[in-house]
Amino acid sequence: MYVCLCKGITDKQIRESMDNGANSFREVRRELDLASQCGKCGALARTVYDAHLSHI
Ligand code: FES
Repeated sequence: MYVCLCKGITDKQIRESMDNGANSFREVRRELDLASQCGKCGALARTVYDAHLSHI
């Protein structure tokens, strides 16, 4: 599903970023350029991040 509509970023991309070594939410945001426009996706992105964090 799309998390960030402004940038077209999916939950899968967030998880892949984490799996590929991003070790903080800030790093995921920087790597994907996530939540850099309207910012409305920030809370959902954080939820996706936290959920995946508890599985790795
Ligand atoms: Fe992500 Fe707007 S939806 S910055």
